[in-house]
Amino acid sequence: MSVLPANEESIADAAERLRRGGLVAFPTETVYGLGADAGNGRAVAALYAAKGRPRFNPLIVHVADAAAAARYAAFTETANRLAEAFWPGGLTLVLPKAAAGGIAELTTAGLDTVALRAPDHPVARALLAAADVPVAAPSANRSGHVSPTTAAHVAEDLGDRVDVILDGGPTAIGIESTVVDASGVVPTLLRPGAVPRAEIEAVLGCALAERTTAATPTSPGQLASHYAPRAALRLNALSVEPGEALLAFGPDVPTGACRTINLSAKRDLGEAAANLFGALRALDATGVPAIAVMPIPDRGLGEAINDRLRRGAAPR
Ligand code: TXA
Ligand code: MG
Repeated sequence: MSVLPANEESIADAAERLRRGGLVAFPTETVYGLGADAGNGRAVAALYAAKGRPRFNPLIVHVADAAAAARYAAFTETANRLAEAFWPGGLTLVLPKAAAGGIAELTTAGLDTVALRAPDHPVARALLAAADVPVAAPSANRSGHVSPTTAAHVAEDLGDRVDVILDGGPTAIGIESTVVDASGVVPTLLRPGAVPRAEIEAVLGCALAERTTAATPTSPGQLASHYAPRAALRLNALSVEPGEALLAFGPDVPTGACRTINLSAKRDLGEAAANLFGALRALDATGVPAIAVMPIPDRGLGEAINDRLRRGAAPR
């Protein structure tokens, strides 16, 4: 495995590796992804194995733009509006899979839908353009772990299991894309994420439906314990218990923690999202048994932040 600064040469090399069935980690504006050619079943099988990801969890297929996406899925009118409003960007659309699109069965875990996203990051965009194949890319962490927001996080988690890690610096948003199922009549929020619910609802002119517990498939984002550090998380903490580290938010921070990281002293939810996974990894690395987490408002990006924290706190 090599960690290469992302530049024209390393991107061209990584694109060639993807075309030959290799695994390439690359930055997007949300988190780092672990990419494989979505049309190559063997490459995708290697990707599931590298992550230790259960094969019933389908992958997001990354494309350069809506025109490329149209080869792989049937776009509904709603989907067109959402893609126009939010692509390139942090929105993933689940749509009916095009039979002739050539996406491997394993990529979609055998479903008749496919998840598509056009990322908004210069390195991801250059890589997708150079590879000229649809790129299946889950977050580049071991299954169940905290998602990576730096190349170093990817190396920690996946090390020799990937061919190349393209280093494009820390990711700007720091939390995964919002996943919306637009395959049916009523668009449904499957996973809160980088694009806040209110922005999507403003484009739709109506509320997103909620995922029902009966909804298929079981996705990593839907498993109770996911995005989990080793330390226990204690949510909505207003004070610190002996031995705990503190994940703080806002200017009024309780004292007594052995180690404190403030997600955003000025209560900026964008800053908090960008800092979240790195802070969890850093506090975890100190070896504390538990991390107290201050309350975070549920508005805007707060919904996605609280979703990840709840899953990180769920019984393992
Ligand atoms: O920001 C992101 O979305 C990052 C970057 C790398 O793009 N990727 C990411 O992938 O978070 P992953 O695999 O960690 O999460 C993908 C989510 C999972 O919850 C998966 O179950 C869901 O998307 N998903 C994928 N295909 C689906 C489908 N056909 N139907 C329903 N959910 C699907
Ligand atoms: Mg993930």
